[in-house]
Amino acid sequence: MVEAFEGKMKGLVFGRGFLGTRIANYLGYKVIGREIADATDLSDIEKILDIEKPDVVINAIGKTGRPNIDWCETHKEETILSNVSAAVNLSSACALRGIYFVHLGSGCMYLGDKGGEGFTEDDEPNFYGPQFYAKTKILAEKAITASNPSALILRVRMPVDDHPDERNLIDKIKKYENLIDVKNSMTTVPHLLGAIKQLIEERKTGVYNLVNPGIISPFEIMEAYKKIADSSHNFGKFSLRELNQITLGTRSNCYLNTDKLKNAGITLPEIHEAVEECLLQYKEHLK
Ligand SMILES: NC(=O)c1ccc[n+]([C@@H]2O[C@H](COP(=O)([O-])OP(=O)(O)OC[C@H]3O[C@@H](n4cnc5c(N)ncnc54)[C@H](OP(=O)(O)O)[C@@H]3O)[C@@H](O)[C@H]2O)c1
Repeated sequence: MVEAFEGKMKGLVFGRGFLGTRIANYLGYKVIGREIADATDLSDIEKILDIEKPDVVINAIGKTGRPNIDWCETHKEETILSNVSAAVNLSSACALRGIYFVHLGSGCMYLGDKGGEGFTEDDEPNFYGPQFYAKTKILAEKAITASNPSALILRVRMPVDDHPDERNLIDKIKKYENLIDVKNSMTTVPHLLGAIKQLIEERKTGVYNLVNPGIISPFEIMEAYKKIADSSHNFGKFSLRELNQITLGTRSNCYLNTDKLKNAGITLPEIHEAVEECLLQYKEHLK
């Protein structure tokens, strides 16, 4: 812990999307959407920071692709501007003003499980190349860590939430007829919120794998969905090879080590338990 903030902090979240809105509502921060500032324009950001004078800025801007990440393969300019240029603009403008900067990174920068240990924050990303989105998230993380030592970078993965939303992993995968049964690190959003609050309050810096302990596959999540939320839901299984044949960019499948988060005093619930908790709430929303 570097230094605890005292009293109420003024925070801004850049990015009026799925995670930005969720985090801002939870922390009571103001959201700065594209209609207020285009973060690829440094002067827009500087104007907002000089008017608002926040203590904390969270970057929840990004292009993750719609309907899926393959969009980034065919829209490289927009993707690099939002995922790299905007992130560097925000980080630099905050550093110059002494504002604590938090960046939402991605855990999708690795492939594999590192012999069962999981990749730590110190491991060099091994997924630079096969997918453009991952490439931009690696570039942004490297640029921020190289230039802003007081920034906090949170690597989130495949967010699972407790209510229906087109960005919730549950909603995304329930549209698919076939799912892979490959286990991955994932982040449950209700638990991510409390973790972010604690990390900010303790003014942590550096990179954190912000995922739940354990690994789970999309197929397993749909099995739990069928059991808990909708017994009529039908789906099948296919192999990673079959998935790779129908996607433009290769998908990252990886296991991230959560020891650093645990050593910081933050333990998210084990991923199967956490997903079940989300599904129980999700079921109530379906009613
Ligand atoms: N959801 C995931 O699966 C996931 C997983 C790991 C990490 N993350 C990271 O978390 C962050 C937020 O993701 P999300 O799921 O909340 O995505 P999202 O719902 O697509 O929200 C991103 C927001 O950023 C805005 N934006 C993009 N470029 C901008 C710019 N130049 N200026 C101002 N606003 C801009 C988008 O507005 P427009 O729609 O107008 O462009 C959108 O409102 C991203 O950095 C993403 O890489 C997401």
